[in-house]
Amino acid sequence: MIDSEKSNRDLGYDSSSDVDPTPEEESQTAGQPKGSLTPDELTAQGMLLYIAGYDTTSATIAHAIYYLSQHVDCQTRLFEELKTCNGFTYDNLVHLKYLNAVINETLRLAPPLTRGNRECRQDYKLGNTGITIPKGTTVEIFIYALHRDPDFWPNPHDFIPDRFVEPTHHPYAYLPFGAGPRVCIGQRFAMNEMRMCLAKLLHKYEFTLAQPPVLDYFRGSPLMSPKNLIGLPYYKDINDISYKEADDILDQSHRKCHSFGKTPY
Ligand code: HEM
Repeated sequence: MIDSEKSNRDLGYDSSSDVDPTPEEESQTAGQPKGSLTPDELTAQGMLLYIAGYDTTSATIAHAIYYLSQHVDCQTRLFEELKTCNGFTYDNLVHLKYLNAVINETLRLAPPLTRGNRECRQDYKLGNTGITIPKGTTVEIFIYALHRDPDFWPNPHDFIPDRFVEPTHHPYAYLPFGAGPRVCIGQRFAMNEMRMCLAKLLHKYEFTLAQPPVLDYFRGSPLMSPKNLIGLPYYKDINDISYKEADDILDQSHRKCHSFGKTPY
């Protein structure tokens, strides 16, 4: 349904050739039983899951609320859509076009991972540019810049969820989760998590900005994660439920600190 969730096969990718180990890689793991991980590899994977799995979704939810606070019309439209939903189940939320569009547009403007990279595995001619990328070169892909390229995105800096309601963009102009055989393994899980959290928050609370927005980020970090959003946005309970409950919802979703600046890091 959503472009960013197309599988590698949908996009015409033959992933097997890309993941077969090179002879050098084979020699590095010589003597190690196939399919096993060393303690270092296990630790590294555990760390990666923590960083990749928490900061990314947390930053996206914070940014979505931030953009919706700036665009009251979008927030109202989303609220109206959520009212039509008969229970926030996986099946219902996955079909909410505007909710998905809001998340996708947030990921376009504020991709948690601003850049990705690949190592070139063979000399590669770049079309008819006269440029050949030598084997072994690390190629950096600046996802943030790609998402704001006016050649692909009209009014690239504006928050316009509608562009994702019936998406027409080139699939590789939109890479919040990467692409190909090493695409984010948590993509579907993350989308579900974000849909659920935003739906629960936005059908109960109305968010407005409490002060002029100034977002600050960690310099040099590939993660586009706001340091804190102290004082912004402000939330008002639509159904007059206590503020305590809002905290609980955020707690349950592990998202307390970023959106409201209660415990900034
Ligand atoms: C908004 C949420 C998320 C975003 C935007 C995101 C983005 C990304 C991106 C751009 C990559 C690199 C893909 C590539 O190089 O093509 C990646 C890789 C990865 N992500 Fe995510 N991610 C998110 C959530 C998650 C979650 C929830 C998990 C785990 C539960 C996760 C686990 C991983 C792992 C393990 C990799 C490395 C995959 C590999 O190298 O084979 N991510 N993610």
